[in-house]
Amino acid sequence: MTTKCKDRIFLVGPMGSGKSSIGKALALVTERPFLDIDEEIVRYAGKSIPQIFEDVSESGFREIETEVLKRCFNYNAVIATGGGIIGREENRKLLKENGLVVYLLADVETQFVRTSRDNNRPMINVSDRRQRLEEIFKVRDPLYNEVKDFCVDSGKHSIHDCVEQIKAKLKEFEWKV
Ligand code: S3P
Repeated sequence: MTTKCKDRIFLVGPMGSGKSSIGKALALVTERPFLDIDEEIVRYAGKSIPQIFEDVSESGFREIETEVLKRCFNYNAVIATGGGIIGREENRKLLKENGLVVYLLADVETQFVRTSRDNNRPMINVSDRRQRLEEIFKVRDPLYNEVKDFCVDSGKHSIHDCVEQIKAKLKEFEWKV
C-alpha cells in the first residue's frame, strides 16, 4: 500500500454501478480532479464509443482503453473507468500498481434498470440485455474483486453514503481525504 500513489483513486465496477456520478461527488468532497476514462477515450479517438466499436471492434477499443489508462497516470485524480477495463491482465496490474482501487458493486437488476434507457454501450446492445448483463457480471465480478482494495455496494446505498464509505476507508488507510 505504501508504494502506491496516495492521490489517485480508481473506481471500477459494472455498467450502471455509478462510477461517474459517485466519482464526481467523491472528487468534489476530497478536492481531487475527476477523470472519466470513457470520456477520455472519446476525446482521444475523436469519435463516440459505439463508433469506435463499429470501426475497430471491441479489441480495437480495448487497445485505446489501455493507452488512455496509461495516460491517466499523469494525474492525481478520482478516475472512473469503463466496466470492461479489468478484462485485460495488463490493465489489472496497472490499476493495482498505480492507485487505490474501489470496486463499486451493483447487482444485475440495478445495472439493468440504470442502463435501460442508454444506447451508448455496445456491450449490451442486444435484445436480452438483462441476460447479457448477467453473463458479463459472472465473468467480471472475480476480476473486480482481484483488483480492488475494498468494495462499496452502490446498488444498496445512495451516492452520498457511498462517498462517505469511501472517505472512511481513505482515513483508515491513512490516505489523503
Ligand atoms: C464497457 C463499459 C463502458 C464503456 C464501453 C465498454 C464494458 O463504460 O467503457 O462501452 O465493456 O463494460 P461504463 O462502465 O462507464 O458504462
